[in-house]
Amino acid sequence: MPMPVPALTPDRVVRVTQLARTIADEVGRAFIGNPMITEALLVALMARGHVLIEGYPGVAKTTLVKAFSATLGCHFRRIQFTPDLLPSDITGTYILDMRTNTFVLREGPVFTNVLLGDEINRAPAKTQSALLEAMQEHQVTIEGETRTLAEPFIVLATQNPIEQEGTYPLPEAQVDRFLIKLKMGYPAPADEKRMLGTYDRSPPPVRTVVGPSDVLDMQALAQEVFVAEELLDYVLGLVAFTRSHPKVYLGASPRAGLALVHAAKGLALLRGRDYVLPDDVRHLAPLVLGHRIMLTPEAELEGAAGTAIITEAIDKVGYKMPKGGVR
Ligand SMILES: Nc1ncnc2c1ncn2[C@@H]1O[C@H](COP(=O)(O)OP(=O)(O)O)[C@@H](O)[C@H]1O
Ligand SMILES: [Mg+2]
Repeated sequence: MPMPVPALTPDRVVRVTQLARTIADEVGRAFIGNPMITEALLVALMARGHVLIEGYPGVAKTTLVKAFSATLGCHFRRIQFTPDLLPSDITGTYILDMRTNTFVLREGPVFTNVLLGDEINRAPAKTQSALLEAMQEHQVTIEGETRTLAEPFIVLATQNPIEQEGTYPLPEAQVDRFLIKLKMGYPAPADEKRMLGTYDRSPPPVRTVVGPSDVLDMQALAQEVFVAEELLDYVLGLVAFTRSHPKVYLGASPRAGLALVHAAKGLALLRGRDYVLPDDVRHLAPLVLGHRIMLTPEAELEGAAGTAIITEAIDKVGYKMPKGGVR
């Protein structure tokens, strides 16, 4: 039986905003940094998407994901990716039960609600693919048998920048399984100083402030957020810009545009609205589209970045106001 769709009433919008604020405040007890980072994780949670966090060692990627997961009160597993990790270490394997003399499935860590895939680019492509497929399909096939994963299911993966030694870059064609790719740089000087002064002793534990059913409710409500036709045109304009850019070898796909719409709905709801604004789209476009376009080899050599093309698109592609204003 399909679940009844909850109406996006003003009090429900307020409640989601409050829950999101509480989650962000709790994360702030363990992680000091740009609030936009935690907001991006919340956007992905709302939009049923996954996040890839890239940054040098020691910028608190793992700390952030663990804190965020702790607030959610959902089942949590962590996979530390290493060069010898096998696909079955992610999905699971059948083992012989000596008592009954039958094979039983020992479920891998992918059977969870919130999965931290830590240092995902330290494992070879085949192992990465096992996770990426599960993310895409919300199911895994083990020895020919297909199993559905739990709901909610969100993967928060971290990776070191690919120039580093001993890493296997994620297959280009699969990076778009991540709704959002976040780059975490060094903290602002004031934040870094506060971090040094705060975490010279063990930090207070992060409290659980929501549960799986809250997450599912928030996800269902995010789907109900209104997107005006002009905004769809705007997304199409941004996407088209990437397809005709001389530095771009492969522009944003229709799936990329759809991802941007989903994410924008999540952000609108987090910010207390039941409709998307052009600013939601502008804010998220680099995070959602940046890793979904492929640059020409020459542009790569010059050090151009996907996100810079998206920023250019935002500068050049105008948003056409609807007659009679925004809703
Ligand atoms: N912005 C920050 N906020 C809170 N703690 C930080 C921050 N930056 C670094 N740290 C501290 O430094 C360490 C970072 O480790 P970790 O989270 O494992 O980083 P990474 O996963 O990026 O390598 C942790 O002990 C963490 O408390
Ligand atoms: Mg780490």
